[in-house]
Amino acid sequence: MRKIKLATIFTLTVLMFGGITVAQTDPGVQSASRGTGATIINPSNDPNGFTAFFTNGLARFQEVESVSNSPQGNNGLGPRFNMNQCSACHAQPAVGGSGAATNPEAEVIANGIVSGSTNSIPSFITQTGPTLEVRFPFFFNSNGSANTSNPNGGVEDLYTVSGRSDAGSCSLPQPSFAAAQEANNIIFRIPTPTFGAGLIENLDDSALLTNQVTNLNNDLGISGTFNHSGNDGTITRFGWKAQNKSLQIFAGEAYNVEMGITNELFPNERPLPGEDGNGGSGDTGLVASCLNLSGTGYPEDTSNPTLTPNSAVLDDVSAFANFMRFLAPPPTGGVVLNGQSVSASAISTGSSLFSSIGCATCHNPSPGKTQVSNFVPALSGVSVPAFSDIEIHNMGSGLADNVSQGSAGGGQFRTAPLWGLGQRIFLLHDGRTTNLITAIEDHASHGSEASTVIGNYNNLSSSQQQDLLDFLRSL
Ligand code: HEC
Ligand code: HEC
Repeated sequence: MRKIKLATIFTLTVLMFGGITVAQTDPGVQSASRGTGATIINPSNDPNGFTAFFTNGLARFQEVESVSNSPQGNNGLGPRFNMNQCSACHAQPAVGGSGAATNPEAEVIANGIVSGSTNSIPSFITQTGPTLEVRFPFFFNSNGSANTSNPNGGVEDLYTVSGRSDAGSCSLPQPSFAAAQEANNIIFRIPTPTFGAGLIENLDDSALLTNQVTNLNNDLGISGTFNHSGNDGTITRFGWKAQNKSLQIFAGEAYNVEMGITNELFPNERPLPGEDGNGGSGDTGLVASCLNLSGTGYPEDTSNPTLTPNSAVLDDVSAFANFMRFLAPPPTGGVVLNGQSVSASAISTGSSLFSSIGCATCHNPSPGKTQVSNFVPALSGVSVPAFSDIEIHNMGSGLADNVSQGSAGGGQFRTAPLWGLGQRIFLLHDGRTTNLITAIEDHASHGSEASTVIGNYNNLSSSQQQDLLDFLRSL
């Protein structure tokens, strides 16, 4: 009897340790608070008083907007929109971040944000799935198929204000999401987090270009380029394709595209791409019964000259930009795997492997130092631990979304900054996975600049791969 018992224990021990050491595992979303969401401003070294603008912007980023029935300043939602609050989509792990575990877009009828009699929740919007923004890569042929010689790519807002008690008689249908799915002509994007965005904004082009010259010298098949502004020709940085120049412009665009609120940067109400003359002639835009629903005239968001304190004078877009600009980069932290703390030496080994196998050639741990800041000293002359070169790379057929933005083509994406990865839930531009291993493997497909590096990753031993995954969740 005694002998058998010992043998059983021995077998169990082998199985247990075998299970832990052989198969590598994504440690998953790290739950301990790392302090993400704090401001980068040192309040005792804020000569121009921008701390008040950060706090005011944080509050406005969380304001719930309505169509016409709320206090002045919170009007203008719609007529088409995805959500009614910036922080609904930028929530994880703190206000300003990426999508949360529970998708607010799935709750809009239950929460009274849209009318269930005139809107339905598209099938791809689910409670536990990623928060999504939708685009149709192409306009449609008359038989309903995608017309690949007529590129679209603009955002198709999920919902309309029709049927809301504060929306008057405006009656609009939702885009035909089911038909777009049927025609295989639909792509998704998840929210990018904005922590540390002020540092990315404040890198001079020269820092990025110098870094590119250094990194082009590789034997991994990696060649990156930059997306550029159609307005002033400088390097653009924000969004999955680095399509946007500045936080102010992104905020203005998001206010109009995500929430339907016109502003000083984007002063006109936004029809769908197919209603705005983009797909051919014959479009007449939004009908009069869906214009000026707020009753305030345009733009719906303006500066407020008579308000106090100073921070209240700004328009919402400027306030949003200040909030994001002054968010600190996400702090790194310890990693727990299967209930056990990972050792510092494993994380440090993972960090070395990240560089030696070539991840760091794109995901540059620090692509440069910021230019002198006219806002706050904390944004001046500091390195930017973004784990991105801010370049766009060809990522292969498996990731391509067939949407071009600026000089970024259908298969090109900005190297996703990996700071904050330890507390990210959904990964890759369309949120297709929550597992780091899948996110890594999906870098390799026909035409991807990352294929050699992913081959190097696959050649690592299991314990080396584990160290790399542990390192990634420390970010
Ligand atoms: C419906 C969800 C949703 C709402 C509401 C929303 N966003 Fe976003 N946000 C996104 C998505 C999706 C992206 C990525 C877009 C892309 O690159 O294709 C994004 C990206 C951004 C970025 C780029 C960050 C970076 O570094 O790439 C900024 C800045 C931003 N949003 C600001 C805002 C502001 C300000 C508001 C409120 C006015 C807002 N967003 C409301 C979904 C949302
Ligand atoms: C050729 C440049 C390149 C190389 C090499 C590369 N990546 Fe990436 N990485 C990207 C781009 C571009 C994206 C965004 C792709 C997308 O979302 O479609 C990305 C996304 C990611 C993401 C998801 C981040 C997010 O915000 O969802 C992770 C995790 C990641 N990379 C890890 C790695 C690791 C680990 C390696 C090395 C094994 C690596 N990458 C090598 C360019 C690269």
